[in-house]
Amino acid sequence: MQYDAQALIESLATAVLLTDSNLRIVYANSAAQQLFLLSRSKLLQLKLTDLLDKEQKNLIDSIYSATKPYSTGFFASKVLFVPEPNRCITADLSIAHYSGKGKGLVVECRSVDYQQKINDEIQRRSQHLAARDLIRSLAHEIKNPLGGIRGAAQLVDMTYGSDQALHEYTKVIIEQADRLKTLVNNLLGPQRPNPLTLCNIHYVIEKVLSLETMETRGKIRFKKDYDPSLPELPLDVNAMEQALINIISNAVQALTENKTPHPAIELKTRARHGAWINGIKIPTSLVIVVTDNGPGIPENIKETLFYPMVTSRASGNGLGLSIAQSIVERHNGMIECQSVPGKTIFKIILPYQKDKFSSK
Ligand SMILES: Nc1ncnc2c1ncn2[C@@H]1O[C@H](COP(=O)(O)OP(=O)(O)OP(=O)(O)O)[C@@H](O)[C@H]1O
Ligand SMILES: [Mg+2]
Repeated sequence: MQYDAQALIESLATAVLLTDSNLRIVYANSAAQQLFLLSRSKLLQLKLTDLLDKEQKNLIDSIYSATKPYSTGFFASKVLFVPEPNRCITADLSIAHYSGKGKGLVVECRSVDYQQKINDEIQRRSQHLAARDLIRSLAHEIKNPLGGIRGAAQLVDMTYGSDQALHEYTKVIIEQADRLKTLVNNLLGPQRPNPLTLCNIHYVIEKVLSLETMETRGKIRFKKDYDPSLPELPLDVNAMEQALINIISNAVQALTENKTPHPAIELKTRARHGAWINGIKIPTSLVIVVTDNGPGIPENIKETLFYPMVTSRASGNGLGLSIAQSIVERHNGMIECQSVPGKTIFKIILPYQKDKFSSK
């Protein structure tokens, strides 16, 4: 079998650049054009060093050294490329000598951004689970003595209730114990998951929207953009309603508290192919996109947004998103969030799983 070397290099998934001994790029395969998002003719006007972040002085020195006769090639991981201002790519780089017609370097680059994003997501998730477990154990420990305190206050009330001043005190103890109990129950999260039933997601969304429309009394415009062809999927309907309510109420609160002009919330449903959930590529999933035109999520809580007790609101418990995330995770899904002032987007991604009809 005869090989056409150039056709072979063209069809590689790895980006390959060839430079002359002055590091001027003389060849770039298709994968290189895709990686750097630059046309071949543009790449051929550049030197390899033009593509690199200039802060990487040691690396640039090593590349120059690699052009010298008898020097060996090398491998560098997580190299920062800046093919254009404001656009950077992290890639693993391997450099080898080339001495065919002319001399120079063969440069192979493999993007690590995507893999990095997946790894970061997995790490963030495990940190989140650790924080959530800690808070749940704490909540569990608080719950038991709380019952005792409430019971004792009731006994005191029954015994000495005729004393009005004492009655006021026991009333405060009982009220505050009840308030703490609600908080602790929320911290413990949804207790007994309901069975999953096949359901059209638009039924859930419509139900939540009718509640929110009533509550906001027409002050907020709700826009809908549904894909009616989306198939049903197994849902814990009550829990999924709760998750959606938590996300939409946050948007409502952000819009009203900020007095956003022309406040609007859009609900969109779409199918997505090839979403990554916890490091696994899901062939087809359903995405519910909730977008509001409010002030955006405060920078200081963006990183820990889904952790319990993270809030920017004086009256907030910081539990809405943590609960929503637990619910969506029980459906083997995930929630994504992007936010800038004027546009906050929450995406609930729910996988369509063949023959998988059980919740976690
Ligand atoms: N659409 C949004 N726009 C702006 N900020 C948001 C939005 N959604 C969430 N946030 C921010 O995320 C924080 C956490 O939300 P979360 O629902 O977990 O808690 P909370 O709303 O503060 O309290 P709780 O839901 O327990 O009453 C909020 O305090 C708010 O700062
Ligand atoms: Mg909330």
